[in-house]
Amino acid sequence: MAGRLVLVTGATSGIGAATAVGLAGMGATLALGVRDLKKGDAARKEIARETGNPPLEMPALDLASFRSIRSFAEAFNARHPRLDVLVNNAGIYTRDRHVTEDGLEAQFQVNYLGPFLLTMLLMKALKAGAPSRIVNVSSEAHRGSSIDFEDLQGERGYSGYRTYGRSKLAQILFTHELARHLQGTGVTVNALHPGVIRTNLGKGEYPRAFDAVRLFFKGPVRGARTSLYVATAPALEGVTGKYFKNEREATSSPASNDDAAARRLWEASLDLAGLRATPSGEARGGARSSGRTSG
Ligand SMILES: NC(=O)c1ccc[n+]([C@@H]2O[C@H](COP(=O)([O-])OP(=O)(O)OC[C@H]3O[C@@H](n4cnc5c(N)ncnc54)[C@H](OP(=O)(O)O)[C@@H]3O)[C@@H](O)[C@H]2O)c1
Repeated sequence: MAGRLVLVTGATSGIGAATAVGLAGMGATLALGVRDLKKGDAARKEIARETGNPPLEMPALDLASFRSIRSFAEAFNARHPRLDVLVNNAGIYTRDRHVTEDGLEAQFQVNYLGPFLLTMLLMKALKAGAPSRIVNVSSEAHRGSSIDFEDLQGERGYSGYRTYGRSKLAQILFTHELARHLQGTGVTVNALHPGVIRTNLGKGEYPRAFDAVRLFFKGPVRGARTSLYVATAPALEGVTGKYFKNEREATSSPASNDDAAARRLWEASLDLAGLRATPSGEARGGARSSGRTSG
């Protein structure tokens, strides 16, 4: 991976931290997308200590804020005309419903719509880096979910786990639709399940007994394996629109292979993320200006 630029989101903890160490160890030039710059600095030092390959300094990236995503992407694009690999790893689980500064449900935005916007804003650099890869860290929690287009923001009878599952399903639908849009560009996009891994995901959100159960899960280094495989394996050159687990291609749920739902989510996401061009040619400001519900 020497000479290749890789951006990993959520590299301050768990699977993202282990993925970043793995990529730095392979010689990649790393950029970390982290919301807390102090934690990011500690992560950069730790990666440098473990691998001798310090990540670049980057501004903060808060996926719960379109403003933050836009300013991060602007800074990134100003410094880096090409990007070889984007790992959309950051994620949250919240038991209760929280609303972001953009007026959106937090799991939907951090796990799905924020990465959607980030990916679209970095697309020119990804195309310039082709053959390049987008890696979406999803979850087996997508199974059994379907997207409720009448209630994308979980306003009716919120359930933390159901909303988490939907956000992970949305990532896979996005993966499929984006793969179709990127045919012939040399940019591939795949999704994956990292395993059930001992990390900080949802810490404080589950009953305390779960902390004891968590101790038996596999560690983050194991959790990073499939991300590293999908991000770097030469065997996956040109492979796109697929789902992986245990470093192998796997079948995702029937709902995640619903092409009509993928297209509908794509259209709704362009509106919600403010990416639809206005008649004057400018992208709209964000979710609020385009309305919070979508059909
Ligand atoms: N652990 C599992 O068993 C499991 C299973 C399936 C899928 N996954 C997926 O794996 C991915 C990594 O999760 P993990 O298990 O490693 O959890 P984790 O230890 O909690 O790490 C999550 C990372 O995401 C970052 N993050 C959270 N909110 C953010 C925001 N608004 N903007 C930017 N970064 C943000 C966190 O930053 P801070 O350090 O600042 O909090 C942290 O670096 C997630 O997408 C998760 O859904 C995990």
